[in-house]
Amino acid sequence: MTDLDEVVRARRSNRMFLPGRAVPRELLDEALELAMRAPSNSNTQPWQLYLATGERRARLAEALLAAVDATPPALAAAGLPPKFAYRRMQCGALVYGAMGIERDDREGRWKAQRRNWEFFGAPVAGVVCMHRDFGPVDALGVGMFLQTLLLALTERGLGSCVQVSIALYPDVLREQLDIPDDLTVLCGLSIGYADPAFPANHLVMPRNPVGENVVILDS
Ligand SMILES: Cc1cc2nc3c(=O)[nH]c(=O)nc-3n(C[C@H](O)[C@H](O)[C@H](O)COP(=O)(O)O)c2cc1C
Repeated sequence: MTDLDEVVRARRSNRMFLPGRAVPRELLDEALELAMRAPSNSNTQPWQLYLATGERRARLAEALLAAVDATPPALAAAGLPPKFAYRRMQCGALVYGAMGIERDDREGRWKAQRRNWEFFGAPVAGVVCMHRDFGPVDALGVGMFLQTLLLALTERGLGSCVQVSIALYPDVLREQLDIPDDLTVLCGLSIGYADPAFPANHLVMPRNPVGENVVILDS
């Protein structure tokens, strides 16, 4: 896959990965090398990415699930202002609907949601950070790195999911991955081969018409 339009359209958030299929290190290295080409304010390259595989990934997921079960997440704390909360509801309806979970099936939803903290079975578990002194402009740079990485992974046949849910347990992440205090944890990232038999992996999420988000003024 080499056409940019095609890669952009093919990328989607995957929420079920093939457990037995490891991510070849050379593909990961290529995608990371490409993502490093992302632009940033004064070329600060503010992204700090931790990736865990194998035993470390297993320990991380185990510790996160233990923390989630001990202290269930307050997803409202994940940074969505009340005015935009309806977006989460719309998104949830589509994602859980594609998983065949009924609207009022709270237990089914929770079971599916809890899989966030086992990185949806992905063999590579990521945590995205930036220095705590950086601000929103630098967070833009981290986002650009992340999207470039997602596209490079997609081009190589790999699936992914960015996950703010992971960042709700920063202490566990710090302990398990030796993340220093001067880094702010922004989000998680699952990487692996998407399970094609999982219908929700084929979900194409809708987008606004361009005019809702872009103003073009020419006079
Ligand atoms: C910053 C960020 C945080 C996200 N957090 C989560 C998450 O915690 N769990 C999840 O399942 N999806 C998460 N997503 C995926 C979004 O739900 C998804 O990108 C959006 O619905 C559009 O769908 P698409 O990525 O398939 O195009 C996140 C995406 C971004 C960019």
